[in-house]
Amino acid sequence: MADQSILQPGNLLMVQERERLLAALLREHTQGRGLDGLRAFEAGCSTGYNLRLFVQWGARPENIAGIDLDPAAADYCRAHAPEIRVHSGSAAAIDEPDESFDVVLAFTLYSSVPDEHVANSISRELYRITRRRGLILVYDMRRKNPANRSVHPIEHTDIRRWFPSCPVEATTLTLAPPLARRIGRWAQWLYGPLAAIPPLRTHAFWTIRRP
Ligand SMILES: C[S@@+](CC[C@H](N)C(=O)[O-])C[C@H]1O[C@@H](n2cnc3c(N)ncnc32)[C@H](O)[C@@H]1O
Repeated sequence: MADQSILQPGNLLMVQERERLLAALLREHTQGRGLDGLRAFEAGCSTGYNLRLFVQWGARPENIAGIDLDPAAADYCRAHAPEIRVHSGSAAAIDEPDESFDVVLAFTLYSSVPDEHVANSISRELYRITRRRGLILVYDMRRKNPANRSVHPIEHTDIRRWFPSCPVEATTLTLAPPLARRIGRWAQWLYGPLAAIPPLRTHAFWTIRRP
């Protein structure tokens, strides 16, 4: 099992690339006003790295919420950021009001959901809790992960099927993780040039605009 720690230099390089894209989208979406009034939700938030990131970037903790199926992960979130609202359970049923978030994230969630019916229910819930003209941001693998057979790639057609009424933009990113981890140890400067080569990018980021 690869080291998933953010302190692993290769993991940090991959996450920083994704965060630069997220920051650009948030800058555009908030029209430069910052995150002070932003309401954000993450489905499949795990231990809450992204939830705390929003607060670090200027959002108010009481405007941030998430859900994870794993109760231990949800407990970890609550212990590390008690003001952030974290639900334990499936994102197929989210206990939050309709149209209550400006930005909703699903980062490496769908690849962990093998059942189409559940993926559909999650998508309906993400759509329901996002305000009109809000953003649903999906980041996930588009290639099989040979080191983890319990996850599966997500394709553009999946996103179109789950969010049929929404305009969607896609971009590819993330240098193949085994390569990123190797160069993280001895040549971090190579991340950018290698990640610029499309066949080496293993993930995609979909920006789904709620009409
Ligand atoms: C690979 S982790 C992603 C963590 C986080 N989103 C990130 O980007 O760092 C996937 C998470 O999705 C959660 N998960 C899987 N199925 C779920 C479901 N139906 N509802 C909510 N969470 C789910 C798992 O428990 C796990 O914590």
